[in-house]
Amino acid sequence: MIKKLIKSLLGEKNTNRLHRIKFSLASAIDSARSAWHISDSADDSDFTKDQLNVAQLINIHGLEKAMVIGHEKYLSSVKYDKLIGNISRLLQMGVPPDDFTIAESAAVIRSALNTVSGHDSEKSQLESLISQHNIPMNLRGGVEVIPSAEILRHTNFDFHGFVSSRHSVRKFRDKIIPREVIYDIVRDALYCPSACNRQPFKVYFSEDKETIARIICAVPDQFIAGGFHDCLIVTCDCALLSQSETDDQEYINGGIFLGYMAMSIHAHGLGACICQLLRKDRRQEKIKREFGIKDSEIIAGFIAFGELEDDVVCACAQRRNVKDAAICLDD
Ligand SMILES: Cc1cc2nc3c(=O)[nH]c(=O)nc-3n(C[C@H](O)[C@H](O)[C@H](O)COP(=O)(O)O)c2cc1C
Repeated sequence: MIKKLIKSLLGEKNTNRLHRIKFSLASAIDSARSAWHISDSADDSDFTKDQLNVAQLINIHGLEKAMVIGHEKYLSSVKYDKLIGNISRLLQMGVPPDDFTIAESAAVIRSALNTVSGHDSEKSQLESLISQHNIPMNLRGGVEVIPSAEILRHTNFDFHGFVSSRHSVRKFRDKIIPREVIYDIVRDALYCPSACNRQPFKVYFSEDKETIARIICAVPDQFIAGGFHDCLIVTCDCALLSQSETDDQEYINGGIFLGYMAMSIHAHGLGACICQLLRKDRRQEKIKREFGIKDSEIIAGFIAFGELEDDVVCACAQRRNVKDAAICLDD
């Protein structure tokens, strides 16, 4: 009724504009809050486990960023009791003490508290929570100072040669890739950047020929699937994103992860071809059910991969001129 009235007063065009402004404002507030603020005014008391998990990860990341830039004012004003309280709430909700969010939170909060004076009650509150629940303190948290020479140590190689020698491979040797290699590849890909370091990625694989055949059957591009003998399903878990990020971040994060996977597969001397499954593809839900993938995950893509044949037939896939992509704003 009210909506109809507003529409008739403003007209269709202005109503849509109003909706867009409302959405942009909500997103801006949400991202501003998630970027820095450990909000003590937002009522998060009825958050679900997933929502609290996301909020905590975003806040913890904000804390690490504040430590990176040495934002002392911010660091001393943080509501540490709230962050520690969130660990307790997650534990009460049944999250195990060795869960990543819990262990990482404890490490980051401990590190941040070490940089500020005072806050004695929060310091002892954290330490007693750690010992009471046996929270493993084996994760790194806070900041580290790395000599630039150490960062540059691995950059002395022919990167252009490496990236330009990767080609999408669509026909492989009939061989299944062992799980140790897959773990190695995924471990590499997890070093990709992700929004607030939430790493919302999952890679589903099998070593069983029949299950692999079912994965290959699910690849949308059946035109080329005949040459595949092994295939991964790569998903992005929206449960690790806040509401305003969903619809964007899963594909941005998922795409970056897929790119790193392709690079690592190449570095392992194997070939790969990324195949996309569109969000609106009705098979998303069917494939998720078939392989026991959570509702909150979206399939970002498949990666067919495997050993190279002696001669690899590739599409030329000519690249555009660099100046079609790199536009200098000064010219
Ligand atoms: C998001 C994405 C989706 C893709 N989907 C398919 C696909 O369905 N089938 C296919 O044969 N190749 C697919 N590819 C591979 C591209 O065709 C290939 O990367 C492009 O032609 C460049 O060639 P190159 O990878 O050999 O350099 C996809 C690549 C990306 C990044």
